[in-house]
Amino acid sequence: IFPDGRRNARGINLNVNSQFKPLMDEMTPFFQRDYNAGPLVGFDLKDSGGDQRNVICPWDHTRTVGKVRWTSAEETSHAIDVAWKAFPDWNDTPVEKRAAILERFADLMETHMAELMAMCCMEGGKLLTDGVAEVREAVDFCRYYAARAREIFEAPTVLPGPTGESNELIMQGKGVFATISPWNFPIAIFCGQTVAAAVTGNTVLAKPAEQTSLIAHRVIELLYEAGMPREVVQLLPGDGATVGSVLSSDRRITGVAFTGSTQTAQLINRSLAARENAPLPTLVAETGGLNAMIVDSTALPEQVVKDVVASSYQSAGQRCSALRVLYVQEDIAERVTETLKGAMAELNIGDPTRLATDVGPVIDEDARKGLQAHIDRLKGEGRLIAETEIDPAIAANGTFIAPTAFRIDGIDALETEQFGPILHVVTFKASEIDQVIDTINERGYGLTFGVHSRNETFTNHVASRIRVGNVYVNRNIIGAVVGVQPFGGQGFSGTGPKAGGPHYLLRFANEKTRTINT
Ligand code: NAD
Ligand code: ALA
Repeated sequence: IFPDGRRNARGINLNVNSQFKPLMDEMTPFFQRDYNAGPLVGFDLKDSGGDQRNVICPWDHTRTVGKVRWTSAEETSHAIDVAWKAFPDWNDTPVEKRAAILERFADLMETHMAELMAMCCMEGGKLLTDGVAEVREAVDFCRYYAARAREIFEAPTVLPGPTGESNELIMQGKGVFATISPWNFPIAIFCGQTVAAAVTGNTVLAKPAEQTSLIAHRVIELLYEAGMPREVVQLLPGDGATVGSVLSSDRRITGVAFTGSTQTAQLINRSLAARENAPLPTLVAETGGLNAMIVDSTALPEQVVKDVVASSYQSAGQRCSALRVLYVQEDIAERVTETLKGAMAELNIGDPTRLATDVGPVIDEDARKGLQAHIDRLKGEGRLIAETEIDPAIAANGTFIAPTAFRIDGIDALETEQFGPILHVVTFKASEIDQVIDTINERGYGLTFGVHSRNETFTNHVASRIRVGNVYVNRNIIGAVVGVQPFGGQGFSGTGPKAGGPHYLLRFANEKTRTINT
């Protein structure tokens, strides 16, 4: 079932275990630590500010991971004042200095890898393997954007002109950016947006997801240790309705870099547009997906199932890139679904600190309830193909959802993204392929997509006609790598430019020409 030798059916591959052992020893004290977080701003805070909340571990509800004090609306406005005043000097700071801060920050995250991974596990419910990938991606974002910023900002581009005139194109920051991020990549996406906005000369108000404020707080402490001035990047933990909406409705916010659900992006877009007498804003939105994979009859079923399981159930399906709808040509549908049932039966659900665990918890009770309602509805319609068993004692102690697969008629049957370990399977006839692609396109999301086939003409045709940001051929559809698979979608899935790609920083900058009559 897993031909890559990563692990056998119920045990742990000893090589993996020995690789992780030293890191796990380093992590142990952080599993017990009690964290305290709150706003990190460029002015003196009064203690009497926002609400104080307990943070509960998603896979063990008896454990409190720490406390977070949320930012009030007044403090949010005050932070905007500070960012507004700090912008001109930061924008004038040489790019070399800004880029060097990102590189020191990357080094510090590597030094603190064990702690950050432990926090991802305790607050975000992430598996250790996902925790490693999380920190690595954040480090990659910092180093990649530092290098790109030097290329773009170091020297003006010299432009042609008539004799007696010199022309150059200069890149500068735009102003004050709000970076609003989700909980599912609490370090990588949170850092990626924030450092991109800062290295391009903007001052930044970073609003992390409610669910992962402790991680964000620790990461910003490291950013300050790397030399980032407090008034340049301020951390504003809090809820979307308070902090988020104050940010998106203030006329001094020049741009918003948002990653999260399509619905929230639409709210922010409306709020920015409704501001009176505000300059036209920049909105970079990376949002949800209803990601599909098409499998034709020449595909290798074992390879397909391995990639489907990784794409649908890794990270408990809580990736915007995750596979939601599998289209299988009817000739091999039975073989694929039978192999899939076998693979799903072997998944281990539970404590993410154990190396043998394949699927951890979903983030919180709201998420669990929403996913369970969808599962119950499809089960009620008799559509269940398979469901992984979950130990009732594990299920009772955290917010777990067992991986499921359901038969549906088409992507149109899904009203919204279901952000968890739920796969939907559709069968199609060979003659219907263009209709299938057009239906996926017309559904309007366009983030990731996979095609499995040994027929190159088929894969080329499908990959060319599908309208998405990231196409993967004969592999899984998750885990884009910075600088290798720049990540981001179109339509309901986002505005672009792609994170971790060569054009991303350009959206955070203004272009200015200077013409001198010599
Ligand atoms: P969400 O939209 O609920 O929240 C995202 C952020 O927006 C949070 O910080 C939240 O506090 C804030 N927010 C909420 N209401 C707001 C408002 N009115 N004004 C301003 N900010 C507000 O999303 P989530 O549940 O945190 O994350 C999961 C979603 O993110 C999924 O839809 C997933 O597909 C998407 N996502 C997309 C990408 C991508 O790159 N395309 C990556 C990761 C996650
Ligand atoms: N960049 C993340 C992935 O590709 C969301 O899975």
